[in-house]
This record gives sequence, structure tokens and C-alpha cells, in this order.
Amino acid sequence: MQYPHLFAPGKIGKCSIRNRVVMPPMATNLGSAFGEVTPELLAYYRRRAQGGVGLIIVENAQVDMFQGRSLTAQIAVDSDKFLPGLRALAEVIHAEGAKTFLQIQHGGRQCTPSTTDGLQPVAPSPVPCKFLGVMPRALTKEEIRELVEKFAQAALRAKLAGFDGVEVHAAHGYLLNEFLSPYTNKRDDEYGGSFENRLRFLLEILARIKELVGEDFVVGVRLSVEEFVPGGLTLAESQEIARALEASGVDYISASCGIYESVSTIIEPMNFAEGWRAHLARGIKEVVSCPVIAVGVIRHPEVAERILAEGHADFVAIGRGLIADPDWAKKAAWGREREINHCISCNVGCIGELFANGKVRCAVNPWAGRELFFDERARAPERKRVVVVGGGPGGMTAALVAAQRGHEVHLFEKEKALGGQLRFAARAPHKEKLLWFVEYFEEMLPKTGVSVHLGSEATPETVLALKPQAVIVASGGTPVIPEFSSLDPSFACTAWDVLRGSVVLEEKDVVVVGGGVVGCEVALFLAERGNRVTLVEMLSHLAVDAEVITRIELLKALGASSVHVMTSTRCMDVEGRRVVYLCDADPRTSELHPEYIVFALGTQPNRALFDELSGKVQELFLIGDAREPRKIFHAVYEGALAATQV
Ligand SMILES: Cc1cc2nc3c(=O)[nH]c(=O)nc-3n(C[C@H](O)[C@H](O)[C@H](O)COP(=O)(O)O)c2cc1C
Repeated sequence: MQYPHLFAPGKIGKCSIRNRVVMPPMATNLGSAFGEVTPELLAYYRRRAQGGVGLIIVENAQVDMFQGRSLTAQIAVDSDKFLPGLRALAEVIHAEGAKTFLQIQHGGRQCTPSTTDGLQPVAPSPVPCKFLGVMPRALTKEEIRELVEKFAQAALRAKLAGFDGVEVHAAHGYLLNEFLSPYTNKRDDEYGGSFENRLRFLLEILARIKELVGEDFVVGVRLSVEEFVPGGLTLAESQEIARALEASGVDYISASCGIYESVSTIIEPMNFAEGWRAHLARGIKEVVSCPVIAVGVIRHPEVAERILAEGHADFVAIGRGLIADPDWAKKAAWGREREINHCISCNVGCIGELFANGKVRCAVNPWAGRELFFDERARAPERKRVVVVGGGPGGMTAALVAAQRGHEVHLFEKEKALGGQLRFAARAPHKEKLLWFVEYFEEMLPKTGVSVHLGSEATPETVLALKPQAVIVASGGTPVIPEFSSLDPSFACTAWDVLRGSVVLEEKDVVVVGGGVVGCEVALFLAERGNRVTLVEMLSHLAVDAEVITRIELLKALGASSVHVMTSTRCMDVEGRRVVYLCDADPRTSELHPEYIVFALGTQPNRALFDELSGKVQELFLIGDAREPRKIFHAVYEGALAATQV
């Protein structure tokens, strides 16, 4: 066994667990609008339990549907009417050999009237969250007493539904975290001020839960050990909190961090290193003897193993990693870790979709959240010959899914390596995790029998010569170069040229035209190489096409860089090295005279091959950027969908 610590059986309270791999709570919005467990949710969790994880801590279940909801389709546990659904949920997870706890939560000031049916969110004090900008009102003492009972009744229902435990959510800036923290708790009664007073609400809840559920049922707490806001909780104070919690009888502590105002530390985008916050778990472990769970960008089994082996934690939580690949644990246990489809921390499908009021999805796993509707393991009724053109994310997905369905698959890629845009997008600062997705296909395509033709530009003739029954065209896009009459190509290139390395710029005055994600990233890339960069964007804001949390980090990096940003500025013309622009605030045109101009204006679809093949093959699909330039998320889903339809 390569990962002896990871696959050693463990125990939390009286609950025995088959290994140390925990799925932490992750909201899916797969519940019903009324808070019920749905068939979609059951299928989603069942799939994750099948993958060999030891413990699933089911997502935040609401203890107060009216005042505490943070999502529109969040599951609830504030009434007995939810028991049948919750019972089914515990049952499907148990049926696959995993243990399960239910996280119980109240959103506090991090709710909005759109999720609380218009009610004003509540908090310890009227301190608005800067991320959401909604003013909460302070809870009365009477309401606090009612909430103690609501949390406790929720825990009792979890027990009655068959869960092995509950996790009281006192992290991520939600209500109980708000009471613990001097940043959000400004009360001057017995629930605010001193350390003891800030802890009172949580301790009252835990005591009442224990009264109702007895000794055998696990009760844990999730904490934001560091809030990463000025004046907020730090590890030192959280150690004191952890000591007090253990003394009150909690069975484990899950050591998370961050609140919405520091949201990039809760659900980290790509620029955070793997395992970066294991030290927070260690800090808690040093002061308690109950088990501690570590979390945060733990992606590779060897990293998880090291965290356990070095004594940072007793369990490791693999969050987005299990959305991306539910079989993470089984693959690691069987020594097939190279087959793991790793989460790349893009946040587009999971939290990105939730923020947009959608349901959990995943950019690298087209089945995530759709388990009920797609059987990813189903074989096609008839084996066909399938040609896939283009080895980017969409094409690679299409080829893999088609092969897994039993088809004979030929994949053509004009470059000498797989990956398409991913390969050079990964060269932008902190984007190297994108290569994990390429490595996954490099492992899986040959293993599933796909014939990969690299350095091979597909033509209608080469495709038709194979006599395919189905062709999936994933030929990507081509960067847009604006049609300025006297553009001199010796002074201009595209963002792709720069990232690909076909144009090398150092110590130059460069204007980047286009401040979407790619423009911002290429500006940073150039600034890191000593160029003096001006970034020109027509809109009033940069990177509006970025996922919300990723955008926060990108703008932070730009703010800290030497890049000169000009928003609300339209590039009107380029003549040689002369860039003519117009600012929204000024009716007169002005000029820049850089040494080089880089265009980051998006791409246009490459659909010529699709048009040429139309009417000549039985089944023809156009997917990804070749259909319409968008994100990896869309290309992957369309690739999977096309392959499923063959
Ligand atoms: C879509 C999504 C929803 C989440 N919802 C919750 C939640 O309901 N409760 C919670 O404590 N943490 C929640 N988290 C945080 C995760 O439990 C985890 O701490 C975080 O994703 C970092 O771990 P990872 O890098 O392994 O994903 C959520 C994360 C994601 C991506």
C-alpha cells in the first residue's frame, strides 16, 4: 500500500471510518426549492460514496429555512417533513460503505433577501458583509434562544434520519462564525465582547445538541481558524476556541478558514498552492486530542498522505477533487493515481455555477451534478468508428467518452502534443494546474484504446478516408486580429503568440488591447518579464468574463503589478506602432506609441472542416470553441454530450 496513512481505518467519536479520506460539505443547490432532498442529490452523493471515500459530510443543511438560507435550493433540516429525504440520503451513502455526517448551518449576515424570501438577514450585530453589501439586523436574545433549539432539533433530526453525526457549521463567515469573531460580533450583552461571551452561543448549541442526541452520535464543529480579515479570528484565538470546544465534548474539529470577505481562502482559485493551509489544521491539532480534519487544495494522494504522515491532521478533506473525480479514493488505493482527473481549481462549474444560482457542475467532469441523467459507464448499443478532430479539452473529452462507450476512436491534433489552448494558457502566471487536465488525457486516451494522431492536421479527405460513422469537430478558434488598415504585423501579435512563446518580449513598452481574463493574464505575464505594460479595455471593468473568486485574485495581482490599466478606453486604430484610442470621459482621441502591441480580443470559431464535412458523414457534431468560443467548462460538456449521442 503506497498510502498507508491515507488508507488506515480511522475513528471519530464512536464512528469507525474505512479510511482517512473525507468529502467535506459542499453546497450543490441540487435540493428542491422547498429544501427537500431530490433524486439528483441522491445520485450525486451515491456516486461519491461509490468512489471509496471514508466519510461524506453532507452539505450545509438549513436550520432556519426562512432566515438562514444561503442558496435558493439548499437542503433543509428544520422540520420533520425533511426526514424521509434525509433518510434516503443517509441510506444511499451507507449502502456504498461510507459513513456520513450532516452539516447544519445558518447563513447569518451572509444571506441576501433573495434567499431569505425578502427577510432582512440576521447577525450578532448590524455589520454588513462587504462582499454582499446587505445590512443585517442584530438577533435578539429571545431569537438566539430559539436558534439554539433549532440547531439542536436539526441535529436530532440528522440522528433520526440515520446520519452518523452532525457538523455544526461555525466557519466561513456564517452565523456561528460571526458570533465567534470580534470582526463581526460587536454586541455588549452576554453574547458579545469577551472571548467567553462570543463563544457562548456555540457552546449553548453544543450542550443542547448533546442533551438531545446522547453520547454515541458524533458532534463536530467546522471553524474558520484564520479569517484573513483585519481584526478577525487568528490561529492563536482559534486554538483557544478549539480547546473550549473539546472541553465541551465535541468529537472532531474541521479546520477551515476565511469568510466571504476573504472568500478566495475558502474556495481557492488556481493561484493557491496545493496543501497551502495544512499548517492551520496542525495548529489546532497541537492543542486538542480529538481528531482534526485538514482541507484546502489537497489534490494528489501523495500530498494527502504527507499531511497525515507529518501529523498535520488525522483526516484529509478532498472537496472539489471529489466533484472532479468521485473515484479519487479508489484510484489512489489501487495505485492508479495517474488516472485521477484532478480538480484544476478553476471554480467555474462548482462555486461559479452556484453563485449564478445554478446547480453544482464541474469544468473537468461533465457528469458532476448530472449523475441522475447520464450513466457515464453505459456502453453504446453499437460499436462505431468515430473521428474526433482537435485535441483541446472538448476534443479530448469527446474521444475519451466515445472510447469508454466502446467505440473505435481516432483523435487528430495538428500540434505535436495534446491540450490545444490549455497548453499555452497554462503558461500564464499561476495557471499550471491546467496541465493536470492534459496529463489526465495523456494517461487515459491510450489506455482506453484511442488512436491519437499528433502533428496531424485533419482534412476532409483524411477524415473521410477512415470511413467514420461519426465525426466530432472540435477544431477550436483563432485569435481575433482587428482589421486596422495599416496594422504592421512586425509590431503586433496575439496573446496566444506571447503565451505560446512564438513572440518573446522583454523590457519593452507594450500595449495589450483587451482586458478580459486573457488580456489581464498576458499583461501580468509580460510585466513579469520586465516589460512596461499598458492594458487597454473598452469596458469600465477588467476581466468581467472571469469566475468571481478567480477575478478577485487576478485584480489583486494586477493591482500589485506594474501594469498600467486604462479602462473605458476604446482602441480606435493602429498605424504601425501608433495606437489611437478614445476614452469614454474625453471626446478627443489620444495616442500611445509602444514598441509592441498585443491583441487579446478573443477568438473566432474554426468551423471550416465542419462545413466541408456537412452532408458527407452520418453523424456530425460541432463542439467547443469551434461552435462558439467559450470556456473549458462548455467545451468539455459538449464533447461528452456529442460522444454520448454517437
Ligand atoms: C461548490 C462549493 C460549495 C461549498 N459549500 C460548502 C458548505 O456548504 N459548507 C462548508 O463548510 N464548506 C463548503 N465549501 C468549502 C469546501 O468544503 C472546502 O473547504 C473548499 O472547497 C476547499 O477544499 P478543496 O480545495 O478540497 O475544494 C464549498 C466549496 C465548494 C467548491
